[in-house]
Amino acid sequence: MDNIERLVRERRSFRTFDGRTLTAEDKEKLCSFIETIDNPYGLPVEFKLLEKMGCPVVVGTNLYIGAKMKDAPDMNVAFGYSFEKLVLYAQSLGIGTVWIGGTMDRGAFERAMELGEDEVMPCVSPLGYPAKKMSLRESMMRKGVKADERLCFEDVVYWNGFEQTLTSEAAGKLFLPLEMVRLAPSAVNKQPWRMVVMDDAVHFYLQRSKNFSGGKPDMQKIDMGIALCHFELMAKELGICTEFVIADPNIPCKTEAEYIASYKFKI
Ligand SMILES: Cc1cc2nc3c(=O)[nH]c(=O)nc-3n(C[C@H](O)[C@H](O)[C@H](O)COP(=O)(O)O)c2cc1C
Repeated sequence: MDNIERLVRERRSFRTFDGRTLTAEDKEKLCSFIETIDNPYGLPVEFKLLEKMGCPVVVGTNLYIGAKMKDAPDMNVAFGYSFEKLVLYAQSLGIGTVWIGGTMDRGAFERAMELGEDEVMPCVSPLGYPAKKMSLRESMMRKGVKADERLCFEDVVYWNGFEQTLTSEAAGKLFLPLEMVRLAPSAVNKQPWRMVVMDDAVHFYLQRSKNFSGGKPDMQKIDMGIALCHFELMAKELGICTEFVIADPNIPCKTEAEYIASYKFKI
């Protein structure tokens, strides 16, 4: 997958599809890509195409992709990373997606996924070709969560601790990988990621929003996986060497943001 910047900028949630079924070629490409999907935690995620499904916010397709994995401490972040890879790849084929973690009949999807007792299916997405015009419900939903807006760069990127923010100009070669995180999708568009650039590493933190206290699945930890995915894919494309590490630098933080993981980098 290349041209990550274009894919990230072009992607949005699609909830209105034009009714065409996926071509055999596109289905085949998706299925082959799924075989290559990994995540930095090394936790396997099992994807499955689900026919004849529906959910209340989506019109114009009944094909979905679901994914499940074994319950494990880092499963939400790992899931977010892996599923977002699929989302970006689908975008590269002109296939629309939307992360669905809440607005679905969870029981029906879990049955379709043949979920085992020790497994979790955090989210699903419809797959289809976007319609030219979005449904009224979709445009109202987008307004409701201000889906076209994002926090500013300086609201989410810090420098040498949480006391100083980092400007986009000062970010240098790290600007694009960090900007790709800023533009990422998140549950209810809460954008809970915070990044601290310090020495030779970018540390990723979760700043929980009110009414998102965790739980299973933990949507904001999934958001953090999406953030890691965007950062790593963009850095890789720019030729920045990254190494994924989990080593809490114990940076003091008044807002009690939770440390998730870091990327060491060599520019
Ligand atoms: C983990 C996660 C769960 C989400 N769950 C839902 C959902 O249940 N229903 C829905 O309509 N959108 C859902 N979304 C989509 C977000 O509302 C959307 O990504 C956000 O508003 C930003 O809009 P954009 O994707 O068009 O950039 C979810 C997104 C994420 C990342």
